[in-house]
Amino acid sequence: MTKRKDLMKLGAFFHPTGHHVAAWLAPGSQIDAGTNFSHYVQMTQAAENAKFDLIFLADAIATRDGNLQALRRWPQYMAYFDPVTLLAGLAAVTKNIGLVATATTSFNEPYQVARRFASLDHMSGGRSGWNVVTSSNPSEAFNFGRDAHFGHSERYERADEFVKVTKGLWDSWDDDAFVRDRASALYFDAAKIHYLNHKDKHFSVRGPLNVARPPQGYPVIFQASASDTGKELAAQIAEVIFTPLHDLEQAQKFYRELKDHAAKYGRTDDDLVVMPGLNVVVADSEKDADEKIKYLQSLIHPEVGKELLSTALGGLDLSDYDVDEPLPDHIVSQEMQKTNSRVSYLFKDKPTLRQMYENFGTGRGQRTVKGTPTAIVDQMEKWFLNRGVDGYLIQPPVLPAGLDEFIVRIIPELQNRGLFRTEYTGRTLRENLGLKRPTSRNAPARRSSKALSEASAHKELQ
Ligand SMILES: Cc1cc2nc3c(=O)[nH]c(=O)nc-3n(C[C@H](O)[C@H](O)[C@H](O)COP(=O)(O)O)c2cc1C
Repeated sequence: MTKRKDLMKLGAFFHPTGHHVAAWLAPGSQIDAGTNFSHYVQMTQAAENAKFDLIFLADAIATRDGNLQALRRWPQYMAYFDPVTLLAGLAAVTKNIGLVATATTSFNEPYQVARRFASLDHMSGGRSGWNVVTSSNPSEAFNFGRDAHFGHSERYERADEFVKVTKGLWDSWDDDAFVRDRASALYFDAAKIHYLNHKDKHFSVRGPLNVARPPQGYPVIFQASASDTGKELAAQIAEVIFTPLHDLEQAQKFYRELKDHAAKYGRTDDDLVVMPGLNVVVADSEKDADEKIKYLQSLIHPEVGKELLSTALGGLDLSDYDVDEPLPDHIVSQEMQKTNSRVSYLFKDKPTLRQMYENFGTGRGQRTVKGTPTAIVDQMEKWFLNRGVDGYLIQPPVLPAGLDEFIVRIIPELQNRGLFRTEYTGRTLRENLGLKRPTSRNAPARRSSKALSEASAHKELQ
């Protein structure tokens, strides 16, 4: 294994009651987590004390649709806070930790997203991040004047334009536009405000944004996707990529390809951080970890298991199949197995339906590591040093208990091996992640306006 100069990045991914599909039934979970602000305050402060880079929130802007008999036993995504509103509250009770929320480009407008995240960046002193998604829940369409979700390629075309417009709006004001000078009665410098005047296929946005340029220039851009189209967008715009990675070889290939591809857009390896999700089940032995997992699996109601799998497989109707039999071959299309890395691993070794949903239920498509702290850190270290990842979004199966365990048992081991920080060194999320602050697209204009005002001052003196 080769040494790395940089440290491992860690995010704490908060799914309300935990990442395991049956987490809410386990004793270590906060049962009303989705709408319990104190729960988030306590977890975020704990993650900050442990020096996590960031907390991360997923989102959807619709409840899940499907079989209500199953959904009534499965609270995730049914009732929970708007993530940016939640992060604004958390900004007030923290100082260092990054605050990252998901917002879809399919059912939002760039102006509102730009304003919300710029506001959060100011309120938190430069700690905000935006996870760009194109929406996995098709029912969102019904809340935004449409009968159906956009097609896959249109989603990404829209996402691409959306992000460009949003960044353009963040550059509405030069960093030093607001002079707020009582002596000259001048609030801002009119040469330092910029109208975007964007008009293209999906958006028409004049600007400027009614919030000053964010302290980080732009909030850190995260992107979550699994397809090649998603990867293409990531290579262009993502600073942190969140994607499922299940074996080291696959991770190394993804890591190298993505960074090489980003170079085509003029970006360097250091401009892009790869952070897949990681479910951590820590115990005193491998056997105890297996017992822990088995216990959580036993809490999955078969109706919920089928519903979970059905959603993961794109709405496949599984109601007539026996949970203790494998799916018939003709159901498992080749395409499903080959192209969607989020679910393809589930089909290995012809499992029964129950085994499949139990496998998926543990980590909702992301990798699981289990065992003693030493065994878990060995795995985390191996992937990091061999450049399969730059860090992880930690997905505790049960919250808050799983986060507490990670903090008490895993973080010290990572620190002892010199893999993770013991103190924050940066002030902003960008600085902590080792990412550059983007220069405004209008920076050259600012320089020429400076030259212009210097020239006119010179003229006045003559
Ligand atoms: C790891 C991961 C996390 C995601 N998180 C969200 C989310 O929080 N909200 C959402 O609407 N979509 C989420 N998505 C969905 C993606 O934005 C995208 O719509 C979906 O994956 C289909 O695009 P793809 O085929 O490029 O993966 C996520 C996808 C992945 C792979």
